[in-house]
Amino acid sequence: MNYDTILTSINNGIFTVTINRPDKLNALNKQVMADLNSVLDDVYSNTSIQSVIITGAGPKAFVAGADISEFSGTAEEGKILAKKGQDLFFKIENCPKPIVACVNGFALGGGCELAMSCHFRIASENAKFGQPEVNLGILPGYGGTQRLVQLIGKGKALELMMSATMIDANNALQYGLVNYVVSADDLLNKAIEILTLINSKAPLAVAGCIKAANAVFNESLNGYDVEIDAFGNCFATTDMKEGTSAFLEKRKAVFSGK
Ligand code: COA
Repeated sequence: MNYDTILTSINNGIFTVTINRPDKLNALNKQVMADLNSVLDDVYSNTSIQSVIITGAGPKAFVAGADISEFSGTAEEGKILAKKGQDLFFKIENCPKPIVACVNGFALGGGCELAMSCHFRIASENAKFGQPEVNLGILPGYGGTQRLVQLIGKGKALELMMSATMIDANNALQYGLVNYVVSADDLLNKAIEILTLINSKAPLAVAGCIKAANAVFNESLNGYDVEIDAFGNCFATTDMKEGTSAFLEKRKAVFSGK
């Protein structure tokens, strides 16, 4: 499918989504949000997509935030905007297929929130992270107040949010916001290396890991119960039979996702 503001490609089951507004540092305007939503529908339904990379076009930015030029309206309209953003990012977080953010520059505001909604993050050396919304008289609205606390702890998260301070890639690594820092040239390759490994595992078991880990942060769920359920469901899969037989037969398992 073609999108106005997003480029896509697929290679060996790894689907790369590139937000493509480099002249505006890939800021998330309404069209990007709508395109991301459609892309995710494709990710959920297209069986040839096994895992996903989200990145930004150009050398400077992953995403420099929500598009500030679209910010205006009543309190009610502000709430509707935040809800839409949150719903979109829940769709990323709850996707049963692994989604990795390759942060290739500024990840600010909604850009940092987008990266945090992915299952994990890899940064290039020039990446910068921050939630600078208080500079604009607002606060993070696309889940940032929650996910930043989850990922780096309340004290550091509040300092960053309240001061609008940007941190560099090495600080982000030290804070646990990203899993790796690599050169810009190696960024996509690092993600491809990890996703190729994940793609060789049993997809339903991988999806179960995502579901159970997400349940930690969902107060309406008991994560241990979610784990029991996901674990039990795997017992009924062809892939569980294949994985255990392959181990016992001392051969490499070939999973079918069934
Ligand atoms: N929304 C809309 N446009 C944005 C944007 C955003 N979040 N971030 C950058 N842009 C636009 C700029 O307006 C500029 O457009 P122009 O060339 O038409 O004037 C273009 O992208 C390049 O940005 P510029 O500010 O010139 O680059 P810089 O290298 O001097 O600064 C940043 C980079 C990231 C520090 C700066 O762009 C910035 O602070 N952006 C806003 C970050 C933010 O507050 N995000 C949270 C939003 S909720």
